[in-house]
Amino acid sequence: MIKKGIILAGGLGSRMSPITKSVNKQLLPIYDKPLIFYPLSILMLAGIRDILIIVNKGQVEQFRKVLKNGENFGIKIQYKEQKNPNGLPEAFIIGEKFINNNNVALILGDNFFYAQSLTKSLQKANKLKNGAKVFLHPVKNPKLYGIATIKDKKITDLKEKPTKTKSNLAVTGLYFFDKKVVSLSKTLRPSKRKELEIIDLLNKYRKKNKLSAEFLGRGGAWLDAGSIDDYYDTTSFVSAVE
Ligand code: DAU
Repeated sequence: MIKKGIILAGGLGSRMSPITKSVNKQLLPIYDKPLIFYPLSILMLAGIRDILIIVNKGQVEQFRKVLKNGENFGIKIQYKEQKNPNGLPEAFIIGEKFINNNNVALILGDNFFYAQSLTKSLQKANKLKNGAKVFLHPVKNPKLYGIATIKDKKITDLKEKPTKTKSNLAVTGLYFFDKKVVSLSKTLRPSKRKELEIIDLLNKYRKKNKLSAEFLGRGGAWLDAGSIDDYYDTTSFVSAVE
């Protein structure tokens, strides 16, 4: 069982500027709780209790005031800074000591998940021993996400924000990796947008036949609350459910 999880909660938040110049977007409220509570609860539902939160330079204290060391939630939380938003796989390089040669889960601080059988599928994903596992969910605008093509339940292709694709299956911001993830992340080179790409990392696993997929399933919802529209959609969704 995977015991360690990372929440990547940095980034510039440029789509929500100017408020994000002083407050990290992951601390803004979704209905009645800070956005980061939702990805944190996903890791906890998966059975993960040892958590590293990676934040922007100078923002550790903002987060520590809200989440402390995790004791009040019955978990252990540590913090680290990312100097610049160099890409999602940098989480594994920054988190190398924390990961300490173990398997690890990663969730993006602005990703919101809701599904009926979520706990079951999270616990199943958390049993991963070798390889990597992603959660896929259909979206209306595939140009905005990492997109997977599936054939006979296998991922045959993965592309970051494709301009043309026949698939509408987004790779959501929740990933489970074996311990090779640290050394593999170190072999990545920056993409055209000058970031290390999670899709490039996942493609390394896919090419070795080591990548599997899970689905949120019918009635499931996934929202990337990074833009103002999605942020408000997430808030209305949570207030309706609560
Ligand atoms: O939301 C899922 C999508 O997230 C995936 O489908 C894509 O494959 C993946 O590349 C990513 O796409 P985005 O381009 O939307 O990622 P974004 O740059 O918006 O960053 C996602 C979150 O991670 C956001 O809360 C900021 C944080 N972040 C991002 C980067 C690049 C960091 O903390 N550090 C970083 O270096």
